[in-house]
Amino acid sequence: MSSPHVLLLGAPGAGKGTQSARIADRFGVDHITTGDALRNNKEMDISGLNLEYDTPGGFMDAGELVPDEVVNEIVVAALEQADGFVLDGYPRNIEQAEFLDARTDLNAVVRLTVSEAELIDRLTGRRVCPDCGANYHVEFDQPEEAGVCDECGASLEQREDDTEETVRERLRVFAENTEPVIDHYQGTDAYVEVDGESPPDEVFEEVEAAIEAKL
Ligand code: AP5
Ligand code: MG
Ligand code: ZN
Repeated sequence: MSSPHVLLLGAPGAGKGTQSARIADRFGVDHITTGDALRNNKEMDISGLNLEYDTPGGFMDAGELVPDEVVNEIVVAALEQADGFVLDGYPRNIEQAEFLDARTDLNAVVRLTVSEAELIDRLTGRRVCPDCGANYHVEFDQPEEAGVCDECGASLEQREDDTEETVRERLRVFAENTEPVIDHYQGTDAYVEVDGESPPDEVFEEVEAAIEAKL
């Protein structure tokens, strides 16, 4: 068959980015992530849409969703170029889910479940590399030298939306907008749930088996 089409669903901090990197390596597919694409275009001028903020970054730093018009365009461009893919961070509301369903099929829809207390610990302790995008955690996934990227040596940073206040707003937006997306895929043949509370490599063993079972 052709390369797998995988969708990864889960709350902020569930480990979508962490697991997507492993899925992309293991199955030889592209990692499509609206979060990273938007972070690379935080200052883009979207004032023509006449919304609350004039840039994607305005929405992101407040923990709100970036408008569908902006995000859908990113996804269409990425899907056109990908053979197989693991999609991370999209769809986040029912409109985006319907947009996606009209454009591609999905072999596996993997939902990562993690408790709220653990999500908050993971996000407020996350550190990211501004140069190569590698992710770390001050407690759960430390680099060899504190504050320095193992991959490229750059100084690690905290994401602007990883403060406790913004994390709580992101979790609220997830419950309101993205939980209905989970309901939308639950009950389809592609849907599978994986417990995301264990360490990353253990979670990946389950994710890998779940995807293989769907192919
Ligand atoms: P986005 O970047 O997609 O953020 P998110 O969904 O909030 O998810 P995160 O990236 O924070 O978490 P993750 O699940 O990837 O966790 P990770 O693997 O890093 O979106 C950011 C913003 O962009 C949104 O708020 C919105 O404004 C906008 N946006 C994006 N897509 C959009 C869309 N479709 N529509 C509208 N707006 C959109 O792990 C987190 C931490 O935990 C790390 O430190 C990691 O080391 C650690 N960790 C991971 N796994 C484990 C484990 N198993 N055990 C212990 N620690 C772990
Ligand atoms: Mg992520
Ligand atoms: Zn780096």
